[in-house]
Amino acid sequence: MKRNVFQKQDDSEVPVTAQAKAEPETDASDSNESPAEQAHFIPAGDVVNLVNINQIYTDHTPPNVVFKDFNLDIKDIKTQGQFITIMGKSGCGKSTLLRYISGLQEPTSGDIYIYGKKRTDKDRIPMVFQQYTSFEWKTVLQNVALPLILKGVPKNEANEKAMDMIEIVGLAGHEKKWAKYPILSGGQLQRVAIARNLVVNPQILLMDEPFGALDTVTRKQIQVFLRSIFENAKIDPTVIFVTHSESEAVFLSTDIYILDSGPATIRHQMKIDLPQKRDDSVRYSAVFTDYVNKLGSLLEDLKKEGR
Ligand SMILES: Nc1ncnc2c1ncn2[C@@H]1O[C@H](COP(=O)(O)OP(=O)(O)OP(=O)(O)O)[C@@H](O)[C@H]1O
Ligand SMILES: [Mg+2]
Repeated sequence: MKRNVFQKQDDSEVPVTAQAKAEPETDASDSNESPAEQAHFIPAGDVVNLVNINQIYTDHTPPNVVFKDFNLDIKDIKTQGQFITIMGKSGCGKSTLLRYISGLQEPTSGDIYIYGKKRTDKDRIPMVFQQYTSFEWKTVLQNVALPLILKGVPKNEANEKAMDMIEIVGLAGHEKKWAKYPILSGGQLQRVAIARNLVVNPQILLMDEPFGALDTVTRKQIQVFLRSIFENAKIDPTVIFVTHSESEAVFLSTDIYILDSGPATIRHQMKIDLPQKRDDSVRYSAVFTDYVNKLGSLLEDLKKEGR
């Protein structure tokens, strides 16, 4: 059954990015945009545009230039959504990219557009982190309902929506437990985090190595679960995911971007042409193994180049 876990920004009851609705572009010639911005056309239909991003840390000698005139356009793929995974060596800037999109970090210079509109401080795109980020002194239900409560949704309604989401992530029966290890396992705690981020029906979900701390078996199970959430979403969501695991990337993704460092560039883009519906059996197919091997060798080559 198609699930209403992602939602179009313009018909969301509790919009995450209140400013995110696309509007017709104004004529660049009479705008206040810089020449650089004017040169980079922002189609209103794009999901995310990063424009002329620079990130320079001057507390290093020489300064650490993580991004230099970096651009990234994530198009809106109608009808099926997209699962984009970003890979690359440690320190190349993957988490920083996600933080820009989320609104947790501003670049030294450059602009971020979400659905064709420049992001503002008020916009927050939900993000799931590697660390367990639940409030340990709150129950599972309180944790999942919290984003709604903070948005002013009445408590009864918030709890009802939170319970729906708890059921979707397979935690029904655990709602009254403290969201705390070892009362809940690592996998269950990440499900709580996913539920808390999905309860606001975002159209974009960011995930930064969310399964990095899980054991192999739990990790594979939660990958299948996440993929099914993505496949069964009612709308065309965009998930932007970071991982160091090649098989995780291939299993989940529609597209993989490989970042190169010093400063960051998108060195490779790989389309993953596996069936839309994926379960564990996909992992045993020859085409899956080919993708994993190809990805591994591209990443290995970058390492050999010392990048
Ligand atoms: N406050 C800071 N001061 C100096 N350098 C910083 C600071 N914050 C981040 N950096 C640098 O920014 C770069 C990108 O960091 P980021 O966390 O985005 O990397 P990453 O690709 O996510 O790495 P990993 O795979 O290890 O998570 C790194 O080289 C890091 O040293
Ligand atoms: Mg990181």
